[in-house]
Amino acid sequence: MRLQSSHDHAARGLDAYFTPPEAVASLLHIEKSYLPSFLWEPAAGDGAIVRPLQEAGYRVVASDIANYGLKGCRTGVDYLNAKLPAGVEGVVTNPPYKLAVRFAHKAMREVPYLALLLRTNFLESTNRLPFFRQHEPARIWISARRLPMMHRHGWTGPRAPSNTCFAWFIWDNKASQKRIVDWFDWKDFAEPVRKPKTRDSQQELALV
Ligand SMILES: C[S@@+](CC[C@H](N)C(=O)[O-])C[C@H]1O[C@@H](n2cnc3c(N)ncnc32)[C@H](O)[C@@H]1O
Repeated sequence: MRLQSSHDHAARGLDAYFTPPEAVASLLHIEKSYLPSFLWEPAAGDGAIVRPLQEAGYRVVASDIANYGLKGCRTGVDYLNAKLPAGVEGVVTNPPYKLAVRFAHKAMREVPYLALLLRTNFLESTNRLPFFRQHEPARIWISARRLPMMHRHGWTGPRAPSNTCFAWFIWDNKASQKRIVDWFDWKDFAEPVRKPKTRDSQQELALV
């Protein structure tokens, strides 16, 4: 499935806002001893999660309902109806927010390990209370420092800090203890080097 433009992706409600590398670099550190080696990113977008996981040596199947040009990604695949690829041991994604509970239910039925990047207000809802009572996360890793803004697919403007708080929510059948809450600071794990966007910002940097 090939959609027409970046505007269409967002307008059609696919929630095409991609994960900043800082969040994935952090996951790789904080979940290092738990992440299974064969993973599925079922809402892979442009590969913001897939690429760093693969670079870190994980085997990752990528799929998405839309096509953002990620090489090797299976496109036109609605995760909610998709068949689990043979051998996959865990799911890692930043899901479309409005489908997060449905994504979580499906993943927990099929694999022993699930990591979802979600807004922390995912915790607060009477609608989700039965879900949390039935499926207690093993670990919730709160991003103490706001992540860089998740911009819409195709955004080329400057990247500012977000005003939204995110956390990695982990469901892990192997965990003997559930509901562990901890914090991370992505600055401890990633110092991404980004080219200054404009001449002005280059001059500003030269003056520092
Ligand atoms: C918030 S974006 C995150 C993309 C990517 N996971 C990341 O972390 O950058 C949500 C993604 O879910 C995809 N999506 C929306 N509904 C879907 C569905 N039912 N099945 C699979 N992918 C879906 C969108 O196309 C979009 O790429």
